[in-house]
Amino acid sequence: MEKNFKRTLVTTALPYANGPVHIGHLAGVYVPADIYTRYLRLKGEDVIMVGGSDEHGVPITIKAQKEGVTPQDIVDRYHKIIKDSMAGLGISFDIYSRTTSDMHRVTASDFFKKLYDKGEFIEKTTQHLYDEEANQFLADRYVTGTCPHCGNEHAYGDQCEACGTSLNATDLINPKSAITGNVPVMKDTKHWYMPLDKWEPALRKWILEDHKEWKTNVYGQCKSWLDEHLQPRAVTRDLNWGIPVPIEGAEGKVLYVWFDAPIGYISNTKELLPNDWEKYWKDKDTRIIHFIGKDNIVFHCLIFPAMLMAEGSYQLPDNVPANEFLNLEGDKISTSRNWAIWLHEYLADFPGKQDVLRYVLTANAPETKDNDFTWRDFQARNNNELVAILGNFVNRALVLTHKYFEGKVPACGELTDYDRATIDEFKGVKATLSEALETFHFRAALAEAMKLARIGNKYLADTEPWKLAKTDMARVETILNLALQMCANLAIAFEPFLPFSTEKLRNMLGIDKLDWNALGNFDILKAGDVINKPELLFEKIEDDVIQAQLDRLERIKQENIINNFKPKAIGPQCTFDDFMKLDIRVGTVTACEKVKKADKLLCLKIDDGIKGRTIVSGIAKYYNPEDLVGKQVCFIANFPPRTFKGIESQGMILSAEDADGRLVVVGPTGTVKPGVQVK
Ligand code: MF3
Ligand code: ZN
Repeated sequence: MEKNFKRTLVTTALPYANGPVHIGHLAGVYVPADIYTRYLRLKGEDVIMVGGSDEHGVPITIKAQKEGVTPQDIVDRYHKIIKDSMAGLGISFDIYSRTTSDMHRVTASDFFKKLYDKGEFIEKTTQHLYDEEANQFLADRYVTGTCPHCGNEHAYGDQCEACGTSLNATDLINPKSAITGNVPVMKDTKHWYMPLDKWEPALRKWILEDHKEWKTNVYGQCKSWLDEHLQPRAVTRDLNWGIPVPIEGAEGKVLYVWFDAPIGYISNTKELLPNDWEKYWKDKDTRIIHFIGKDNIVFHCLIFPAMLMAEGSYQLPDNVPANEFLNLEGDKISTSRNWAIWLHEYLADFPGKQDVLRYVLTANAPETKDNDFTWRDFQARNNNELVAILGNFVNRALVLTHKYFEGKVPACGELTDYDRATIDEFKGVKATLSEALETFHFRAALAEAMKLARIGNKYLADTEPWKLAKTDMARVETILNLALQMCANLAIAFEPFLPFSTEKLRNMLGIDKLDWNALGNFDILKAGDVINKPELLFEKIEDDVIQAQLDRLERIKQENIINNFKPKAIGPQCTFDDFMKLDIRVGTVTACEKVKKADKLLCLKIDDGIKGRTIVSGIAKYYNPEDLVGKQVCFIANFPPRTFKGIESQGMILSAEDADGRLVVVGPTGTVKPGVQVK
């Protein structure tokens, strides 16, 4: 089924310019996109990687209002930080632009106008939330309220972050203005909608039939959206920050940020290649790949493709290898809670260690499930893998060459069976490594490259040229010739992943230009070629450096506890008799398991001192079932039974929220008899 493409357009999700980029963005989008692009470049293919900042949308205006500056001030500040830090990490964009550029405004505006003229929109006047004090309609994040799906009280007008559901502002229960805190009124307003229902059959065929090869997380999310059927979606907003809706009678309205942002990929390509951009978007033999995080799937797989279909002259993406999320030390990364490792701070704290971060984020990439970044893992991977295996091998090979051969590549003599087997292993890795890269399995690809370094390391340890130097110099020549060829192979294999280190290595080996096609060759270096003085590729990272980072995170945790927690006002008075109506008891958990088909629920068996009871509790996200067994918990014993997923629950477990909003079960501080009352 391999199609023949002539060129590749790699796009990377445009980060919101309302904050710097962090390791979650990098692991999910920019590092994998960069690996892929560098790999294709190294193969000599025609590829461009486009990116830029997403500078519209409500999070930016809210931040500006909070700081008392203009939205333009905000995006100018973060665009620069983002652009510089990505360059600092070696993310090799062919262009990194921004959605406040003139090119983008014109391109997005024309795109809208074309769909409008073709009659591709539905025009509807509906009632929308309006803040009478702020004199403003409340679009998207300007309104918060209770999520109708999961009951989270802090859901936004466009999305509930607790359950991930995307919402319309009018879906919220008890909506409140994020500007004044007022309860909004309803007011008529006119908007333009993309009739996604009209495109549903075409999207269905395109994804569900023609793109079965997509990652299962992406395919599955698309299928579930399509199975629930698509509704028309408003693509305009009542806001004053954004691209003005380019039609008469639309004063005070702008394009919805999710309408203009993906068009940014097109604007950026145009800005990069004013005369040549169309072939990257419109030729059938171009392959378009969107690198994104999982929260962007619906926009890139359904809405933007529907826009492109409606426009009519563009190619659809060939693949959308979306990643899951990266957590930090067990907790969800959060810009607002400052729970992140910010790229610009990392670069300042760890100068010269760009590749260590690239390595760890790739080795731990959240490709198929959410993953965790920990500083201990970062340290271990640096010390035990980069230093001890890759760096050690290269350093030994180069130092020995200087020691015995004055820094010149020795000639290769007769090969032993072991030499041949080692060479074959190197040659064999090329195919598996290329295959992994081409199918977006970057973790596996990195492991393959690392395999080469391990083989090299083992080769030197097994052949021990430093011992043979006393007796058999001819053999030492061959061994080091092969070891140096292996180093050259490593420079190629690791270039997409570790461009800074492979650049150093390339210079030490005196190679002009790396070429993927030479991977597996053992005549890259010629006898007599000069090897430069070896420098260490990686250095050990000490405990105190890691401890400083852990201390920083601990401080942030403490600050969050202090800043975020406001005890609720004490409720109305309650008498002792009222209290006694609640029969609260202590029980011991004797068994606990997940409830099938309910990711929030645990089913607990409780020894209540009588005949035992079953309680279903919404704490599955916070506990491993086995961790609760043997613990004593408090429960309300006299609630009427309720049935969840076919299980009768006889009571309610008491719990409290910790600083991160996670539930912790409440129990006695000493051991008591199961069944005693709490008074
Ligand atoms: N700014 C969005 C986010 O961070 C991503 C936009 S991707 C684009 O989630 F396609 F719209 F550009
Ligand atoms: Zn929710």
